[in-house]
Amino acid sequence: MACGAWNSIVEEASPPGSPSLVAIKGGKGRPVAFETLQAQSEDAPRARTGLGEFDRVTGGGLVPGSAILVGGDPGIGKSTLLLQVAARLAKTGAPVIYLSGEEAPAQVRMRAERLGLRDAPVALGTETNLANIIATLQRSDPPSLIVIDSVQTLWSEGLDAAPGTISQLRSCSSALVSHAKQSGSTLILVGHVTKDGQIAGPKVIEHMVDTVLYFEGHSGHQFRILRAVKNRFGPTDEIGVFEMRHDGLQEVENPSALFLSDRETQSPGTAVFAGMEGTRPILVEMQALIAPSPLGMPRRAVVGWDPNRLSMLIAVLEARCGIRFSGHDVYLNVAGGLRLGDPAADLAAAAALLSAFAHRAVPEDTVYFGEVSLTGAVRAVGHMDQRLKEAAKLGFTSAIVPSACERDYQGPEIRLLPLSRLDELVAWFGLPQ
Ligand code: TYD
Ligand code: MG
Repeated sequence: MACGAWNSIVEEASPPGSPSLVAIKGGKGRPVAFETLQAQSEDAPRARTGLGEFDRVTGGGLVPGSAILVGGDPGIGKSTLLLQVAARLAKTGAPVIYLSGEEAPAQVRMRAERLGLRDAPVALGTETNLANIIATLQRSDPPSLIVIDSVQTLWSEGLDAAPGTISQLRSCSSALVSHAKQSGSTLILVGHVTKDGQIAGPKVIEHMVDTVLYFEGHSGHQFRILRAVKNRFGPTDEIGVFEMRHDGLQEVENPSALFLSDRETQSPGTAVFAGMEGTRPILVEMQALIAPSPLGMPRRAVVGWDPNRLSMLIAVLEARCGIRFSGHDVYLNVAGGLRLGDPAADLAAAAALLSAFAHRAVPEDTVYFGEVSLTGAVRAVGHMDQRLKEAAKLGFTSAIVPSACERDYQGPEIRLLPLSRLDELVAWFGLPQ
């Protein structure tokens, strides 16, 4: 019972045709034909959808014969995004099939109407039976793109399991992925992230596909982030930023300006982090609150960052810099609903915490980045130029950076305040150590 959940064990029938020991023992099988690594393979040709943020995250567009998984919470906007992608591509003249297993054609048509995409020549179907889908795909010329919304509704007659169970999900997805590879169509599979053990989540098919994208965001915020977590044809950790409006997802070309738009520059407990998400610099505000705790075990709560990193940072501030957080609840929030993956956020988080602790607002024209080690040293991070260029572009004039980064900087005019240890930041806030 390590998972702490009841009814989460599901019986798995082994799919027909799985390799058995008999075949291995029997000595049957033909020898493998090997090839060299030298063969000149050209760059994969790509079909750009014209939805810039989507093309960026996929690494430059859709690769023929590849399979992409788009995961995300129900209601986050996956169907909206993929209908927009499908329609954009279809408008370029490429044949596109959209199979919805969750919505009736009228519902999809209503969405298309709302998105202003009624005229896009997308072939819409509502089939969930795998055999029928494959038969349909084999009957005509392979389309450029097949969207399956969602994989959890698919079912194969050969399996004695309900749609959405792990075995159905695996075998239906694997059949479609092989079909895409053979036919040269790009396959996009939509998968709902599930909290319930009854329906398998998209994780179980991540290994089968070439690219895994997660669509994230809070339903309370209008921002949506499309994040690449695996990509055989492009960089991972790349993000695309969208805004959910009444007429669909709009691309956000300058996310830093958007994330900083509601900044309260005079409040203690905030600091602007010059971060990198994939190949793109993004500025976000980190907010901290420190409040006396009535609890014996004070709370440590984080939104948008790794809770273990917050615990580590608090421990370093206590052990190396003499700041006492005991008896206080600590809250940390990344404004705008972004989830940070960049370890360089340590220094900005420390600045937000110290600013809250000292009840002193930080200078509003300063950005922070740098990794903090357990010894209290401030360590160098990559992409210094890009971070500072983005900060300068948004009107920031100083940056608190790791001292090791300072040497190789040749970017725009911005005053650098190099730090080699975290206690220098503590002293900068005028806190006793
Ligand atoms: P949807 O794409 O159906 O989500 P998913 O496929 O991930 O379950 O989007 C659902 C939400 O998006 C729904 O609450 C309505 C909202 N929405 C908009 O705000 N604007 C729009 O233009 C559309 C189509 C949906
Ligand atoms: Mg949907």
